[in-house]
Amino acid sequence: CSRYVPCLQFLGELLSPELMANSTTSLIESFKQAGQGQVFQFFDDLDAAAQASLIAQAETIDLGEVNALVEEHVKGAHDSALNLDGLEPAPYEALPVNGGDAAQWDAAWDAGSAALQAGRVAAFTVAGGQGTRLGYDGPKGTYPVTPVTAKTLFQVFAEKIARSGERFGVTIPWFILTSEINNDATVAAFEAGDFFGLDRESVHFIVQGLVPAVDYEGKILLAEKGKIAMTPDGHGGSLRALVRSGAVDTMQAQGIDIVSYFQVDNPIVQCIDPAFIGFHVLGQSELSSKMVPKAYALEKVGHFCVQNDQALVVEYSDMPAAMQEETTPEGGIRFNGGSVAIHIFDREFIARAGGSDTGAKLPFHRADKKVPYVNAEGATIKPEAPNGVKFEMFVFDALPLAKNPVIIEAARADDFSPVKNAEGVDSPKSCKEDQLRMFARWLKAAGETIETDDTGLPTITFEISPRFAADEADFIAQWAALEVKPELKDGVVIE
Ligand code: UD1
Repeated sequence: CSRYVPCLQFLGELLSPELMANSTTSLIESFKQAGQGQVFQFFDDLDAAAQASLIAQAETIDLGEVNALVEEHVKGAHDSALNLDGLEPAPYEALPVNGGDAAQWDAAWDAGSAALQAGRVAAFTVAGGQGTRLGYDGPKGTYPVTPVTAKTLFQVFAEKIARSGERFGVTIPWFILTSEINNDATVAAFEAGDFFGLDRESVHFIVQGLVPAVDYEGKILLAEKGKIAMTPDGHGGSLRALVRSGAVDTMQAQGIDIVSYFQVDNPIVQCIDPAFIGFHVLGQSELSSKMVPKAYALEKVGHFCVQNDQALVVEYSDMPAAMQEETTPEGGIRFNGGSVAIHIFDREFIARAGGSDTGAKLPFHRADKKVPYVNAEGATIKPEAPNGVKFEMFVFDALPLAKNPVIIEAARADDFSPVKNAEGVDSPKSCKEDQLRMFARWLKAAGETIETDDTGLPTITFEISPRFAADEADFIAQWAALEVKPELKDGVVIE
């Protein structure tokens, strides 16, 4: 069961009142012994329903994990400065247009297509974040993004996955990571959209874990008298969520061993990219990643690096600006490999990196945040400055744990235009324009004439449905097969 809280409530209904009372007492005692007794400070003032909900929430907390995090990140020196000794840019497979071996890309495409046709591939979207920067109140996947019909991010991905399945003659299962904060609203949006034409059995929602926020003494904070302040455990938590929810077993039962991972904020991502899958398969890789050359030296992306023969991603915030700006003898940016959060995971690797056996696991990172809390007197405080610590895992920290990591280059214009900010860079406007540029390029590649400005932005606003074509090659073939081609005018939707 991936929904721990309802599971526990169900258990509670089965147990006798005496057993429940005993288990409540021992739970409260375990918090006291761990130095976290303040969580139950207001317990006696709560009504029965609020008490049950606090108990259910507290049951989900791994006190051993919290106390280890507190020791390491709050009470310890918490010097998070990364050791930069011997850090080098990671090698990668260049695109043919940038000097890569075209024959290898063709071979990769064939290998990826074969894996798809064999039903070995699932799509996986991480959508458990809070999307605060965009200022949108709702699961980010329900945000409308396409230029004409305003399809939501979820609908775009659903249609791309459906088209790829059709192209390779299979149903591609789709796993979606949500969190307690947005799971119900996410499922409701899929219900309302009739699963955007997908077979609902092929869509799996996975609720990620939560970790309590603590104050600077390491004490778990209460958001309300009967509610612990909890936050999602980061996209790195997706790996253990896939294991705990049973999704990894489902994949195994369905013969799936290749998991195509992307973020919810990027509608132009190739959800299912045959060449990428092929490089992963041919490289016998446990974790493959796409890199995009940075747009400018200080672009806020992670950097693909190697250190001590291990691949890793170094976040922009962990790499000194001078290093980000270093140049090569030819004048290019030395640390040029931007991470766009597009990966392929081997299923058994997920089981290992996200499982509970003794293998190496992802580290937690500390983030200092303003966490509203209830103080010892019972008053709710909205802090003006950071007062607490949240803990998150990053999925790219799995890279050093993986055997045979493969990194391939991707064209930014074909794979990366996220919606992150309300305005400016990576905004709904910039993303719409990038979609339009991509559609215009596809049409030109198919031999059509379409007027564009110097940046490739077409003078008309139109749309190519993801249901029609999943990528440029697919579009060229689909367009050629269209007996009656629509007139290319403002507002047209090619579908
Ligand atoms: C992230 C990457 C950065 C990369 C960039 C590309 C981190 C720390 N950085 O930045 O290296 O270059 O994307 O766009 O990740 N999510 C969850 N659960 C969580 C937290 C996040 O599912 O607990 C999901 C979000 O829904 C989203 C994705 O992870 O789909 C990215 O999260 P976000 O916090 O927006 O990452 P960025 O700071 O944009």
